[in-house]
Amino acid sequence: MSPDLSTLPSAISDALDLTLISQGAEAKIYFSHEHPFIPSTLLAGTISTTISNPSAGYILKYRPPKRYRHDALDAQLTKHRTLSEARILYKLFLAGISVPSFIAVDPRLGLIWMENVDGPSLKEWIWATETELEEHLCEEGESGQSKKRLEIIKPLLLSVGSEIAKLHFLDTVHGDLTTSNLLLRDGSSLGAEGATGSHQRMVPQPVIIDFGLAQQSTLPEDKAVDLYVLERAFISTHPIHSGEYVEWVLEGYVAGFGRGKKTAVFKVNEIMRKLDAVRLRGRKRSMVG
Ligand SMILES: Nc1ncnc2c1ncn2[C@@H]1O[C@H](COP(=O)(O)OP(=O)(O)O)[C@@H](O)[C@H]1O
Ligand SMILES: [Mg+2]
Repeated sequence: MSPDLSTLPSAISDALDLTLISQGAEAKIYFSHEHPFIPSTLLAGTISTTISNPSAGYILKYRPPKRYRHDALDAQLTKHRTLSEARILYKLFLAGISVPSFIAVDPRLGLIWMENVDGPSLKEWIWATETELEEHLCEEGESGQSKKRLEIIKPLLLSVGSEIAKLHFLDTVHGDLTTSNLLLRDGSSLGAEGATGSHQRMVPQPVIIDFGLAQQSTLPEDKAVDLYVLERAFISTHPIHSGEYVEWVLEGYVAGFGRGKKTAVFKVNEIMRKLDAVRLRGRKRSMVG
């Protein structure tokens, strides 16, 4: 057993070969090749599950006890936060939103099992794609690169916007919408053809993760704040082209929100108005310092 696993219940860490892949302030993320409950021999054949690709493995999100908190309060918070995250993940999964398949939750132990999304984050994918475009297209200059960005990055960002719209249409706000909390399935940066390839490329599928701060809200303002957080993430991680990236996400968002239903048009316009107001507040705050 590796030292990282010391606080995981031993029944779990002894039974499964777990690898720590991320450690945040709140949670540790482990990867397992094996399903937590179903032997791989059964998964390969007779048992049908919601997991689309068993060979991609599984994720265990674990909220370890916080020693600095009072025991009873800590147990209460862990239970509450784990259950809230799992409920939202499961609800979105059932509603057909692109999120990892939910497998199981143990609120008292602070554990959530879900599908592993085997692909880069949106942030990594854009970085890799921008780098490849610069390397492959340096002779064609900025106009060649900008044409390729339209061809390769725009379709993905339109679908990112439309997935966020589906989430918001269900009155769920994410609470921490960054380009690291969007993963991509089948997301090799430019595919086998490379930046100059002429074949049709598959657009990777965005998958929204990390519902630790998510909540239900009918307020347009809360949805606007989600979009603003994502906009800030683009500006800080992809500063040169953030303007067009944000524009494409919002284009996908507006088109995808309620898919043209009359009431949805009204709601999405209201969210866009609030987004302008949130931006203005953000600018004023940064001017004041
Ligand atoms: N279902 C998943 N599939 C693949 N990687 C995941 C999954 N869930 C989390 N991760 C990885 O672990 C990291 C942290 O997980 P996250 O749920 O965002 O927790 P935190 O609250 O610490 O940000 C993610 O940025 C991602 O790299
Ligand atoms: Mg996260």
